[in-house]
Amino acid sequence: MNAISVSGVTKSFRGDMSLKKREVLRGVTFEARSGEALGFLGSNGAGKTTSIKIILGLIRADGGTVELFGRPAGCRDAASRTGYLPEMPYFYPHLTLAEFLEFCGRLSGVPARDLARRIDRVLETVDLAPHRGLRLKGFSKGMLQRAGLAQAILHDPDLLVLDEPFSGLDPVGRRLVRDVLVDLKARGKTIFFSSHILPDMEALCDRVAIIRDGVIAKTLGLDELVRLGEGRIEITARGVRPGTLAGLDECVSSAAPRGEETFVVVREQRFVRSVIERLYERGADVISVAGVRRSLEDIFMQEIARPAWPARAETPGGERSSEPAAFVGF
Ligand SMILES: Nc1ncnc2c1ncn2[C@@H]1O[C@H](COP(=O)(O)OP(=O)(O)OP(=O)(O)O)[C@@H](O)[C@H]1O
Ligand SMILES: [Mg+2]
Repeated sequence: MNAISVSGVTKSFRGDMSLKKREVLRGVTFEARSGEALGFLGSNGAGKTTSIKIILGLIRADGGTVELFGRPAGCRDAASRTGYLPEMPYFYPHLTLAEFLEFCGRLSGVPARDLARRIDRVLETVDLAPHRGLRLKGFSKGMLQRAGLAQAILHDPDLLVLDEPFSGLDPVGRRLVRDVLVDLKARGKTIFFSSHILPDMEALCDRVAIIRDGVIAKTLGLDELVRLGEGRIEITARGVRPGTLAGLDECVSSAAPRGEETFVVVREQRFVRSVIERLYERGADVISVAGVRRSLEDIFMQEIARPAWPARAETPGGERSSEPAAFVGF
């Protein structure tokens, strides 16, 4: 069974200055399978937080359906199996960390007899045990973020919905949160989280759902991500003359002279040997061979962060001139 099923969700907001509504979700559809880590990726304003609030039943969709564990979003038993870290959590400043967690634990129905033990355990998990007696007003942003994660996991939920769990964390804090989430996933929990920190997303996710302008533009599995990340192989050579690579069009996508050197881009790993052999045969010298792997960030920047509806700049041949060379079909 899917932990989250979202189908055709729409939502409009009225702007501050006008009565006209603006549709910010335009039929969002995706699912998070039980036990997987699904990343939710999109530019600022794409609709991530709005979708997350609808999934949790905190705001109502105009249309479409959302189910958690097969039950309608917002119903009590779905909520009790879900832990939530909001994008901007509110922390009562005068409570100590332990008091805050006691309060959250009672709200989320942790049995009184288990509460102290659970609090001890989550404080160890997020590495805040030494600060349990400190008032939250004295916490740094990164400590608050970890306190927020502690409250989200306190009642041992089956599903974690985390809106930007890595924001405000230094590299040590990011690593800690990443390890906590990896551990929760290993224990069979479902994790759905938005993030702009793409290496963390890459390290943790089984799949990534990409939202753009209020619709899911693409859902990529890890294997597809790896395939997209497989970059080209670049050979730098000296002494390449016209005709040196003649007849190797199947193996070489481009060969660009820069001064005395030529950058040869090989289409796939399996062609590298024949290209290098040809270069040596024809008297050229190979200076370097480099595999250029694309990170999720590169993929996002080059192929996903484009506007959903680019200005129609049609070439006479009918193709859009704005399309990048490595377009992958979003
Ligand atoms: N309560 C609201 N009233 C009016 N407009 C809203 C409201 N909440 C969100 N919006 C608008 O909806 C759009 C989507 O916002 P949302 O917060 O879901 O984006 P996001 O993907 O979470 O962005 P970010 O990465 O900046 O957190 C934005 O244009 C935002 O201005
Ligand atoms: Mg947001």
